[in-house]
Amino acid sequence: MRIDPWASTQYKDYNRLREDFGIQEFKFEMPDPHKLFRRGVIFGHRGFNSVYSAIKEKRKFAVLTGLVPSGPMHLGHKMTIDQTIYYQSLGADVFITVADIEAFGVRGIGFEKAKEIAINEYVLNYIALGLKPCQIYFQSKRKNVTDLAYKLGRKTNLSEMRAIYGFNDSTNMTHIFAPLIQVGDILHVQLDEYDGPRPTIVPVGVDQDPHIRFARDIASAHRLFNVTETKDKKIGVFVKTDENVNKLLDGAEKTLKNMGYADLKKIPKYKAMYILGAAKSDTEKIDESLISVEKKFGGYAFYPPAATYQRLMTGLTGGKMSSSEPESAIFLSDAPKDAVKKVKNSKTGGAVSLEEQKKHGGKPDECSVYELLIYHLVESDSELEEIYSKCRSGERMCGKCKKFAAEIIEEFLKKLKEKRESAKDMMNDYVVDE
Ligand code: TRP
Ligand code: SF4
Repeated sequence: MRIDPWASTQYKDYNRLREDFGIQEFKFEMPDPHKLFRRGVIFGHRGFNSVYSAIKEKRKFAVLTGLVPSGPMHLGHKMTIDQTIYYQSLGADVFITVADIEAFGVRGIGFEKAKEIAINEYVLNYIALGLKPCQIYFQSKRKNVTDLAYKLGRKTNLSEMRAIYGFNDSTNMTHIFAPLIQVGDILHVQLDEYDGPRPTIVPVGVDQDPHIRFARDIASAHRLFNVTETKDKKIGVFVKTDENVNKLLDGAEKTLKNMGYADLKKIPKYKAMYILGAAKSDTEKIDESLISVEKKFGGYAFYPPAATYQRLMTGLTGGKMSSSEPESAIFLSDAPKDAVKKVKNSKTGGAVSLEEQKKHGGKPDECSVYELLIYHLVESDSELEEIYSKCRSGERMCGKCKKFAAEIIEEFLKKLKEKRESAKDMMNDYVVDE
């Protein structure tokens, strides 16, 4: 099986996804965690340790996420921004890419149209939701991104891209190039101009995992050192280039000594250094410490970009929440009364009749209204737990839940609309020209 970032697949079995794709379970204890973390909506990650250390040690880190300007913003999209706002509150530098090249290549949307959708549908809502000033840029306008995509493309090839994305002979070339642009998005925040190299977190839906793996592969292909455990269980540092080998090894030696590794065996002939007395679990830390050495010798010295994966929201009609099916989604620009109607018509985990439900209870785990409450509408965990157990025990009926959810949504959308109005004057603090 392959994850296709451009298909609308509804994933259900997240444990299986983690196992099949080697995604790690997200178990970090975040400071003052946002509800999406508390409630396991963020179910997995790749490489989050580097970001976690940065958060703990109050070092700078970057958040990079993106939007495809092809349709209206719905509650599923809101989750990424909720996380971004949370990271911003922890001190992250935020970058958001408007994937207009992707929208053009994959969906045929023109650049002017893309800009209009991005600003009116997304950026205004981001600000209304509480995003503080940051850099929102367009793929097509940021030369550092497109240039980087070009340059990084040297270390991949068509057969790798086919294996990851399933491209075939009739895939158009802009589409084929789009993933490299996305890698450009993800890694450009580590260039000097953007205060890199530094840990970077990319919050996304799990459908984006192929791009994350691709970005991590390309980042590592551009590193000058490779740190791995050798067959005889030593940690080895290997220089991957033929230039400056001795200087790189000297630099690594100095850094490792500073870290407290006293027993080092340098073998320039093999372009290698062995660290005696290091554990396999130190590999990541050692690898990161060598980034600063690499940087002095002209390497990109990328931190492997980290990602967190959030569950995809179930649509109100039971399938995927999708812009192409308006009844399935609540759009942030929906008129409040339309949203209320959608909630009232939505699929719940209720039984066939009230009698039945009183007797056997409802199924909150299969209920799109309950999902709205978890992901968006209820802040208090204890309130949520009470609703859950009252549903299970048959004390609570769906009518009550729907009314409850509808009221919160209505209020939320009304306020959001007002905030969007005042956000119109604030564009310059967010959208950058290049
Ligand atoms: N492909 C992403 C999507 O479909 C949009 C995107 C483009 C993106 N560049 C990115 C997301 C970089 C995260 C990071 O939603
Ligand atoms: Fe869902 Fe509420 Fe009905 Fe339970 S009572 S199934 S949580 S709508």
